[in-house]
Amino acid sequence: MIEAVRGDITEQAVDAIVNAANSSLLGGGGVDGAIHRAGGPEILAECRLLGGCDTGGARATTAGRLSSRYVIHVVGPVWRGGEAGEAELLASCHRRALELAAELGCTSIAFPAISTGIYGYPVELAAPVAVAAARRAQRPPVELVRFVLFTPVHLDAFQRALTEAK
Ligand code: AR6
Repeated sequence: MIEAVRGDITEQAVDAIVNAANSSLLGGGGVDGAIHRAGGPEILAECRLLGGCDTGGARATTAGRLSSRYVIHVVGPVWRGGEAGEAELLASCHRRALELAAELGCTSIAFPAISTGIYGYPVELAAPVAVAAARRAQRPPVELVRFVLFTPVHLDAFQRALTEAK
């Protein structure tokens, strides 16, 4: 099942929470800042040992004080107008996160709208890419993929992508 809800990703009761990080994996603003604030310093300590992550990739840590088991840190593309491989890189983040979640035995995972904040990816273009990539990459034991959107505009874009992709 793939669903879209409005909310704060740090409050989701799922096995894995996806973080929209940057390639240093050493923290930042937006959802990255919120996850590190809510999860505590343990997550950053583990991130330091990972040595970064390429754009389009995903790396897992435990989740500190969060109620989930793992945080899967992905690095989305910076929007450069759409001709710089952004869609493939955004799809890759979703694919890699779902592969990792399955390897870790997760049954549920929550994604934010990766790249649609500070990285500037227009949400009406990002939502169909994210939904299609999740549909293709979802595999057992992952049963629930939840997109958690912070604003009504983001929720609307993801709900439309879910309906249109059916
Ligand atoms: N729960 C769910 N969604 C959220 C939350 C939250 N608590 N907080 C923000 N969002 P962004 P990016 C939404 O900027 O564009 C960081 O500094 C927000 O409304 O967090 O991938 C990293 O370190 C937006 O729709 O991530 C990188 O440097 C979405 O999350 C850079 O930002 C993503 O916005 C990554 O930029």
